[in-house]
Amino acid sequence: MDASGIRRVFDLGARLERPINLSIGQPDFAVPEPLRRALSHAALENRAGYSVTQGIAPLLEAIWAHLERDIGWRGPSEDLGCIVTSGTSGGLLLAAMALLDPGDEMIAGDPFFVLYPQLGPLTGGRVVLCDTYPDFRLTAERVEPLITERTKALILNSPSNPCGTVLSGAEILDLVDLCRRRRVLLITDEIYDLFCFEDGREQGRCPSPARAGEQCLLIRGFGKTYGCTGWRVGYAAGPRRLVQEMAKIQQYTFVCAPTPAQHALVGAFECDLSPIVAEYQRRRDLVVAAFDGVTSVPRPAGAFYAFVEVPPRLGMSGTEFVERAIERSVLVIPGKVFSRRDTHFRLSYATRPDHLEEGLAILRELMSG
Ligand SMILES: Cc1ncc(COP(=O)(O)O)c(C=O)c1O
Repeated sequence: MDASGIRRVFDLGARLERPINLSIGQPDFAVPEPLRRALSHAALENRAGYSVTQGIAPLLEAIWAHLERDIGWRGPSEDLGCIVTSGTSGGLLLAAMALLDPGDEMIAGDPFFVLYPQLGPLTGGRVVLCDTYPDFRLTAERVEPLITERTKALILNSPSNPCGTVLSGAEILDLVDLCRRRRVLLITDEIYDLFCFEDGREQGRCPSPARAGEQCLLIRGFGKTYGCTGWRVGYAAGPRRLVQEMAKIQQYTFVCAPTPAQHALVGAFECDLSPIVAEYQRRRDLVVAAFDGVTSVPRPAGAFYAFVEVPPRLGMSGTEFVERAIERSVLVIPGKVFSRRDTHFRLSYATRPDHLEEGLAILRELMSG
């Protein structure tokens, strides 16, 4: 395994005097105050021990109430289970460990979130990448030829990291249908579900395969949504047998998600984050406008990233362009960290708006010159 390419950019950035950091993968707002207070209350109450592996009851109840409102799932039931995990990464790793035997395959889109390909070496399975350039849409048509008798799962990530792509309800239904026909489990990584803009929403919500039935494994997190990535809490809900296997592995590995943070997040679903989502949508518009006429950026409809092509006329790889940007103090991440190709870079707009505007002007200038 290679060290994460993102860390390498952080190291380079640490040497800059005044970095304009457009590489950050976490929200730039403070955790809502009620949640911070609840965390400090949990610490004062000395809620410091292990929790049950599955997660504390009040948090599981809050999650089920939210899932019923949001996607119509009623649990826990004979068919449906839920487990609180150590971040979304914890849920993804447990799922891969529970599902994949050596030689089994799991399909993920390219570009991908950095953990996905590593789930192969971590489990003995094989992650098969589905090329989604140039529009970054993981469609059933692109996925179907990659399914073999060893395919156990398909990972869908919408809104996506690193592209901000939000699939439409129709595209998602095609994937659900394909997975049903070919008996492949659909894992839906919805860590950015709340960061879905008006043009990505359908009937006011972010399209999700979970609304088409209970056959998928839904993995979500609190870290990005509430700006508390370091609290390390996420959850996985879906077929009860699979969730039980994941719980067994959690017993021996993570043991439980951090207990004080679980207590702090019981009230999370009551926080209104719509002003923040509106602000991110405004920044997304700035990003798209900044590159208009100089390069191609499929319009992101969610998350807080854009995946930008280095104009081919510059004759530079993504990595070479990123080195030029760093010379001008702008930190972005080479596309090859998220892809087999090295033609793009990832820009995050979860950063100070004045830095964002300054950084965009420099990137545009580098592309035009
Ligand atoms: C698509 C995706 N899934 C999962 C994760 C991991 O999130 P967590 O910090 O909750 O483990 C990230 C983090 O960047 C992500 O972008």
